[in-house]
Amino acid sequence: MNQNLKSLIAQEEKRQAETLMMIPSENYTYPEVRAAVGSVLMHKYAEGQPNKRYYQGMGIVDRIEQYCEDQALKAFKLNPKKWGVNVQAYSGTPANLAIYNALLEPGDRILSMYLSDGGHLSHGWEYGGKKITSSAKTYKVSFYHVDPKTGVLNYAEIEKEAKKFRPKLLISGGTAYPREIKHFEMGRIAKEVGAYYLADVSHEAGLIAGGVNKSPFAYSDVVMMTTHKTLRGPRAALIFARSKLMPLIDASIFPGFQGGPHLHSIAGIAIALEKSQTAGFEKYAKQVIKNAKTLSAELQKYGFKVISGGTDKHLVLVDLRNKRTTGWHVAWALEVAGIVTNRNTIPNDTGSPYYPSGLRLGTPAITVRGMKEREMKQIAKWVSDVVERVGTQKVPEDDEQRRKTLKKFKADIVKDKFLLEIRSEVKKLCKKFPIDLS
Ligand SMILES: Cc1ncc(COP(=O)(O)O)c(C=O)c1O
Repeated sequence: MNQNLKSLIAQEEKRQAETLMMIPSENYTYPEVRAAVGSVLMHKYAEGQPNKRYYQGMGIVDRIEQYCEDQALKAFKLNPKKWGVNVQAYSGTPANLAIYNALLEPGDRILSMYLSDGGHLSHGWEYGGKKITSSAKTYKVSFYHVDPKTGVLNYAEIEKEAKKFRPKLLISGGTAYPREIKHFEMGRIAKEVGAYYLADVSHEAGLIAGGVNKSPFAYSDVVMMTTHKTLRGPRAALIFARSKLMPLIDASIFPGFQGGPHLHSIAGIAIALEKSQTAGFEKYAKQVIKNAKTLSAELQKYGFKVISGGTDKHLVLVDLRNKRTTGWHVAWALEVAGIVTNRNTIPNDTGSPYYPSGLRLGTPAITVRGMKEREMKQIAKWVSDVVERVGTQKVPEDDEQRRKTLKKFKADIVKDKFLLEIRSEVKKLCKKFPIDLS
């Protein structure tokens, strides 16, 4: 291996060990999952479904894929007569595209959550009159919004929107919506307008498996989840569907959308699913939420405006406008301080997707390290101190001025003693809560 590449991997391992991983979609997987993902299973091709393949040498990998399917149905307490699962999707975005390809024809209508309100790009995204994603180019997409005052979904409004737009597919879920989705309401609305209901629970998968967020299955036609977020598995996705839809989903994944499945990932998913059924995981999922609630309450004590007034999940979305700064400035300064978050758009954002007004913080990874309420209080204090240090900031409109000002800001903060002092405190905290990256 190139020595430089080897060193870069080692540096990344050190960074992950010494900083607080607080991007809500990130997590540390289990050493056993990493071993499976790096195993000889990577060498095998297996197009098709178990016992219906196009290649030889399938006996063992068929059993692995079947085991993963069984674990998936078990982890979410599903009756195999009513539900099926496809475990081959490479990740969340291809999984969603495969679902659309299975259920829709080009030009059919999709109703999903607006991106700045917490939705996801793969649910169709148009910006400034331009169709950005392939789903927006292929299908007619319209969006529902959160209530501008509360930041919470208003189901009567979604119903009105659905009756007007008449989608063939109604989607719930997103990347930055801190409240539980009322799947019962979404399923009812979909039925009323004759649409399929897809619950994209990519973020909540582990919270649902751990029994601390409500399950969407009773009200959904299809449920998609990524496996690498709260579920702590490898990077991949699961597509669950009512049995009668399963042949469409399977055919859409292969040959419709993908080639050979990644059997190494499938083995890794099976391990994460096994672990998600343990008492330890239930405890973990509960603590993830307790930590996020504490973080949200503490941040509010420091005068932060938290979207929707709190959280039911693993993430907190902060509106930084009352602090007269931007998500861009705060996220960069926090990184210098060893707190790795992401800048994010918020409902009715006055900034742009690249320079948004919000900050998104998540607790899944720091909870894996064993951190609890006490550490959340400390982290909220550090976030507040960093924001104070950053002070009033805005993104200049003029291109040249913006380039210069932001470059100077970045150059200045990496030398800022106050931020570097917090970084060394963060490093000490991380040492107290080590993670097994072996
Ligand atoms: C709700 C939702 N759906 C889909 C995806 C896409 O997953 P991936 O990044 O694996 O393509 C994400 C990723 O963050 C997500 O949050």
